[in-house]
Amino acid sequence: MVKGVIFDLDGVITDTAGYHFLAWSHLAKEIGIEIDEEFNEKLKGVSRMESLEAILKYGNKENEFTWEEKEALATKKNEHYKELIQNISKKDILPGIEALLKELKANNIKIALGSASKNAPVILKQLGIEEYFDYVVDANQIKNSKPAPDIFIDALKGLNLKPEEAVGVEDAEAGIEAIHGAGMVAIGVGVNGDVNVNSTEELTYDVILRASKVC
Ligand code: G6P
Ligand code: MG
Repeated sequence: MVKGVIFDLDGVITDTAGYHFLAWSHLAKEIGIEIDEEFNEKLKGVSRMESLEAILKYGNKENEFTWEEKEALATKKNEHYKELIQNISKKDILPGIEALLKELKANNIKIALGSASKNAPVILKQLGIEEYFDYVVDANQIKNSKPAPDIFIDALKGLNLKPEEAVGVEDAEAGIEAIHGAGMVAIGVGVNGDVNVNSTEELTYDVILRASKVC
């Protein structure tokens, strides 16, 4: 029987992926690199610094900046991103998610957030759903981002659950790999997991129970 669900944030709880893309493409343009939505798929679930490294590599500029300059670029992107998300609120929760969180709570299932984003706590607060979460991964403390399993391993620890007692929900390939690396069953939202849904509207309590049977 499933005892916990670990959710990714961007693309599962709210659609901030578009804002990450806007902020990265704006910054990339400033340094002469054009990125498109297809390339952006590779950045989903990937940490801020690793995303910047991937963009520089894509533009053949990986050796053009010092570490300090790269830090400044990442900070610039984040400042822009924070501006873009400053007005997000309850209306930006993806369809079906709050009802699912309520149902999980009513059934005594623990809930964690397994996001690589350092902005995750602020976003949860803005969405007004932080009280549903028993544990939120502190991305500042996690060295290896997705596809490494560290974030989900930390979330399992935070919920005090074994991998076979929880399922993970992800919208990115790197995230599915991370869930599997932590030894858990993965539900894919628009991406290939062990149990798949096309959108969060289809992500019901029944789907969670179905996934837990795969455990
Ligand atoms: C999530 C997103 C990534 C983002 C990462 C770090 O995993 O899917 O696109 O790069 O978080 O986000 P941050 O808010 O810390 O820059
Ligand atoms: Mg995501």
